[in-house]
Amino acid sequence: MKEWTQSERYRIYTEADKAELEALHESILNSRWRTDYHIQPLTGLLNDPNGFCWFKGKWHLFYQWFPYGAVHGMKHWYHVTSEDLVHWKNEGLALKPDLLFDNYGCYSGSALVQDDRVYLAYTGNSKDFDLTRHPYQLLACMDHAGRITKYGRPLISPQKGYTEHQRDPKIFEYKGKYYILLGAQNEEEKGVLLLFESNQIEEGWQLLGEVKVRGYENFGFMCECPDIEKIGDKWLLLFSPQGIEKESGRFEQKFNNIYMTGDFDPEHLEFIPDAPYEELDCGFDFYAAQCAAQSQFENAAVLSGWFGCGGYAYPPTDEEGWSGLLTLPRILSIENGKLIQRPAPALAEMKKEILFEAKDGTIVNDRLHGLMPVSAVIHLENPNLQLFELSLFSKNGKRGFEISYDRNTRVLTVDRSLMANQVNAEYGTVRKVRLDEGLSVLDVYVDHSTVEIFANEGEKVISARVFPEADEKIIRMGGRDINLSIYRAEKTNDDSLII
Ligand code: FRU
Repeated sequence: MKEWTQSERYRIYTEADKAELEALHESILNSRWRTDYHIQPLTGLLNDPNGFCWFKGKWHLFYQWFPYGAVHGMKHWYHVTSEDLVHWKNEGLALKPDLLFDNYGCYSGSALVQDDRVYLAYTGNSKDFDLTRHPYQLLACMDHAGRITKYGRPLISPQKGYTEHQRDPKIFEYKGKYYILLGAQNEEEKGVLLLFESNQIEEGWQLLGEVKVRGYENFGFMCECPDIEKIGDKWLLLFSPQGIEKESGRFEQKFNNIYMTGDFDPEHLEFIPDAPYEELDCGFDFYAAQCAAQSQFENAAVLSGWFGCGGYAYPPTDEEGWSGLLTLPRILSIENGKLIQRPAPALAEMKKEILFEAKDGTIVNDRLHGLMPVSAVIHLENPNLQLFELSLFSKNGKRGFEISYDRNTRVLTVDRSLMANQVNAEYGTVRKVRLDEGLSVLDVYVDHSTVEIFANEGEKVISARVFPEADEKIIRMGGRDINLSIYRAEKTNDDSLII
């Protein structure tokens, strides 16, 4: 693998680089692991979703982008839009690190829609000559025509009492005041959440203090990408703490993305959770999720996550010069006290012709003849589901990517240990999720190198990257009385190189 020098890693995009990126883009277009309906980087590395919002009839989403290869280098923001959260269009480079305040990267941030504008609050990863980091919280503004202008002055300067790790502002409005929730590390090297307040977006930001979560003292050594959303009369707090304890079968990723539902009042600096924190995704590759500033879905939040995690490598695509994707957007609601995460509704329209169908365990239509489609939507249901096994991408009699359920234990198991290409296996190759009420419906979205499993219409979600080789192409299934349909999925992402 290529060794990156400091100057190769910290390049800012200029027009002169277009030909280089065109060549890289061209070389990865035919990769077997490029997807059909996920947001993926044009070239290079994608990490967190940023600035997600609904504005002027469209969803706007940005991603953390290092254009030149599969490493975490100089971060830019790349812009994509959609009318339905399913069909995406590339819009071009949105933010590049050309200020002193962001000279080592435009790090993550969020959007606030106000009047005719989108305000983008983000972290300027600024470093001085000896590479000491000074984190600034900065502001940019997008007008109705999509033009983005940066404000020259920081909203928030580095805060005393905290280390260089202060980042990922979530900007929101509540009862006529503006707030920023920020991830930070205190001088004892503990992860904390800071809350700032202002009467105006452009200036006047004051630190209110640390948001305490009742019942908790410890969230590891750093809290990244915090988000807080009001859903009906409850609040949803989510963030990505680094260094929390692994529990048996849970929080097994290197870094995890957690959530709590509960009560909150910004003026009291205390979040009162309804129940202990949980993983937002019970799979292998999920981090830094963010909700959109939106009013399209009532009493709900709209979430996008990074289909990856800090400190992970994905050698199959890293070697090709690209890395990372965003997960499918999810609609979050709180039902009977539980967080439910459903795939965006328009994803249902993406199901094209039916390739396979079984009713009550009997095959009624089979155009697959045992071959696994590289992109597909699988729907499985039976309210009295007993036992089933679904083996995606298996090879001549051997098992592949295994999804199975056992009604006796009510455990859904996802096992990727038998695939030829293993990634980040030190963080576990099997996930087991207990479903209190059993399993009645399962929706599985497969897209070349991704599998997203929604159990019981969003009660639990399990996401996994998977890198099947050409000979890992057989689908096998077994189970009593299942109703199973497999559809071809439409291509909805955009491959055009617009910078
Ligand atoms: C999370 C993160 C953020 C940071 C960004 C930099 O993955 O580390 O905390 O702003 O990525 O790309």
